Amino acid sequence: MAKPARLAASILNADFARLGEELAVLEPHLDFLHLDIMDGHFVPNLSFGPPVIASLRRVSRLFFDAHLMVTNPMALFADLKAAGADLVSVHLEVHPDPTRAAKAARGLGLQFGLVINPPTPFEAAAPFLELCDLVLVMSVNPGFGGQGFIPEVLEKVEAARMLIDSRGLAADVEIDGGITPETARLARRAGADAFVAGTAVVRAPDPVAAVQELRAAVGD
Ligand code: DX5
Ligand code: ZN
Repeated sequence: MAKPARLAASILNADFARLGEELAVLEPHLDFLHLDIMDGHFVPNLSFGPPVIASLRRVSRLFFDAHLMVTNPMALFADLKAAGADLVSVHLEVHPDPTRAAKAARGLGLQFGLVINPPTPFEAAAPFLELCDLVLVMSVNPGFGGQGFIPEVLEKVEAARMLIDSRGLAADVEIDGGITPETARLARRAGADAFVAGTAVVRAPDPVAAVQELRAAVGD
């Protein structure tokens, strides 16, 4: 069974000069914060890393979910932990067997998430669900905010939810990319329980109202 829906903002498309102010406004309305770390190699874009997360940690009490779109994620785990991250998620496309990465994360006291890109079949992740606090089904090809939701990934959300439930596991199913009230509703119906919205929140004229609309859409 899907758990109560939890909503996160991704700050990738926020105004980085005003990050603290934007987060202060949103913080009371969010369940967690999604932090997109990009290395310009695994994805064709650069974002930010542990120093920015450490600054945010000083002004926020939210759970920090760090999404690592990098070629060598394990090299960042210790610095991310020190910066205040709570969970690190790595791409299955980087670690086709994520056992060692999961162990390293847990050894540092971090939760562990596994991410699959739109072209990656769910079957590739299925053997590793026991390692996961989170299974992140990407609904855009990673690299940039503001892209359109790829509806074909909903089948993978359903498959993840079914297998997690049938094995009696506790992992959350997260959806990330192109989330709007409409696509969040579809993902909720498919069994997602964690929702990441970037552009729809941080570029909205009223970001708090945008979070409230998302919450209404997922029915919690
Ligand atoms: C894409 C990132 C997403 C993205 C979400 O590479 O992983 O977290 O920032 O942004 P929107 O909601 O604009 O697709
Ligand atoms: Zn992300």
